[in-house]
Amino acid sequence: MPSDPAGQPPHINLVDPGLYSHGDPFVQWRWLRANDPVHRHTPTDYPPFWALTRYEDVKTVFRDAETFSSAQGILLRPSGHGADPGGGRTLALTDPPRHRQLRGLVDDWFTVRSVRAIEEKMREVAGSVLDLAVKREHCDFVEDIAARIPLYMICSMMGVPEPDWERLFTSSRQAFGAGDPMTRRFAHLEIMGYFEDLAAAKAANPADDLVSVLVAGEIEGKRISRDEVILNCDNLFVGGAENTRMAAAGGMLAFLEHPEQWALLVEDPALLPTAVEEVLRWTSTPTHIMRTASRPAEIHGRRIEAGDLVTLWIPSANRDEEVFADPERFDVRRQPNRHLSLGFGEHFCVGSMLARVEIRLLYQELIERSIGIELDGEPVRLDSIVVNGLERLPVKLVPGRS
Ligand code: HEM
Repeated sequence: MPSDPAGQPPHINLVDPGLYSHGDPFVQWRWLRANDPVHRHTPTDYPPFWALTRYEDVKTVFRDAETFSSAQGILLRPSGHGADPGGGRTLALTDPPRHRQLRGLVDDWFTVRSVRAIEEKMREVAGSVLDLAVKREHCDFVEDIAARIPLYMICSMMGVPEPDWERLFTSSRQAFGAGDPMTRRFAHLEIMGYFEDLAAAKAANPADDLVSVLVAGEIEGKRISRDEVILNCDNLFVGGAENTRMAAAGGMLAFLEHPEQWALLVEDPALLPTAVEEVLRWTSTPTHIMRTASRPAEIHGRRIEAGDLVTLWIPSANRDEEVFADPERFDVRRQPNRHLSLGFGEHFCVGSMLARVEIRLLYQELIERSIGIELDGEPVRLDSIVVNGLERLPVKLVPGRS
C-alpha cells in the first residue's frame, strides 16, 4: 500500500515487464508524480525517454498533436527494433491533417447511433458466450468470456464471415498472449494475411462493412494503398479486441475484490454507466502511450528536444491524487470521472462508445441472468509494459446467485 511518496526514491525502471506481472508499479509512479513528474528514464534495452506520470501533463501532451507526433509509433520499442511499420499509415500512427482524413473514413461506424444499432446483436453475442461459459465447470474469464465478445463484435463489423471468427480468435490469442515471441509474431502475420485476403475479397464484392469502407476509401480523390488498408484493418482489429478484453476482465477482478461494489450494481443496475467508467479508470489498460517531439518543448522547466521520446503512463495519471478524490478507492458511483484510459484529443479512441457498451452489456447480462462469479484459482497478470491486465482469471460461474 501507499509508500511515502516523499520518502526514499524507489529504483525507477518502468520497462521491466516483471514489474507489471509480479511487482507494484504504483510505488514508482506515486513517487514520480510527487518528486519527478517529467522523469528522464535511463536507457535500458529501450532508448532513453521522458516519463510523464501526472494527469495534467499527460493531457497536455495528448492535446498537442503538432508538438507531440504519433507518426513514429505510439509504443516504446526496444533499441534496434527499428521504426514501427505502421508509422505514418494507420489511424493511430498518423498526424493531422492525414490523420483526420483517415479517421473520416471510419468515424461513421463508431458513432452513438451506429453502436446503438448493433446493441441487440452485442447482447445476443454476450448471452451466447455466457451460456457456453456456464456449461463449463471451470472457466477462464479472460479467454472464455471477456476476449470473445469484443473479438466477435469487431469481426462482425469488419465483415469477417462467421465461420472464420473462431480461427481469428485463436490467432489473436496466440499473437497477443504470453507465448514465445516467434509464435506471437507468426500468429500476428497470419492475422495480417487473413485481412489481406479479406480486403481482396471485399474489393471484388463490396458489402456493408468496415473492410469494404477501407478498400473503397479515398483521400483527396486517391484510393488509400493496399498496405494502408491492411495495416488499418490490423489497427482496428487489435484495438477492438485487446483493450476491451483487458478492461472487462480487470473490472471483473475488481468486483471480486470489492464484492460490496458488485452488490451495489446488482441492487441498482442504473449505476452501470458510472461503473463502466470506474472500471476503465481502475483497469487503465494502456500502460503507456508514446509520442515523439517534433519540435522543442518545455514541461515543468525541463527541456524536451525535437526527436525525444515522451511516454504517458496512463494508470498513473488515472490515480493522480490532484484530480481524483481518494484515487485508490474502486467506486462504481464515482463522479466526475474524467479518466484518460481512452486517450484525449486528436487520437481519442475511435472505439470508445463500442467498448463502453460491450463492457456494460457483459455485466448487465451477468446481473439479469443472476449469474454469480467466484474466484477459482490465482489470477495471472500479463508480463507486458504495453497492456495492463490479466493473462488469466480462473472463475466459476454460479447460475441463480448474482
Ligand atoms: C476498453 C477498451 C479500450 C481502451 C482502453 C482503448 C484505449 C485507446 C487509447 C488510449 C487510444 C489513444 C491512443 C493514442 O492517443 O495514441 C485509442 C485509440 C484507438 N482505439 Fe481504442 N481503446 C479501447 C477500445 C477500442 C475499440 C473497441 C476499438 C474498436 C475499433 C478501438 C480502436 C482504436 C483505434 C483505431 C484507435 C486509434 C484512433 C486514432 O488514432 O484516431 N479501441 N484507444
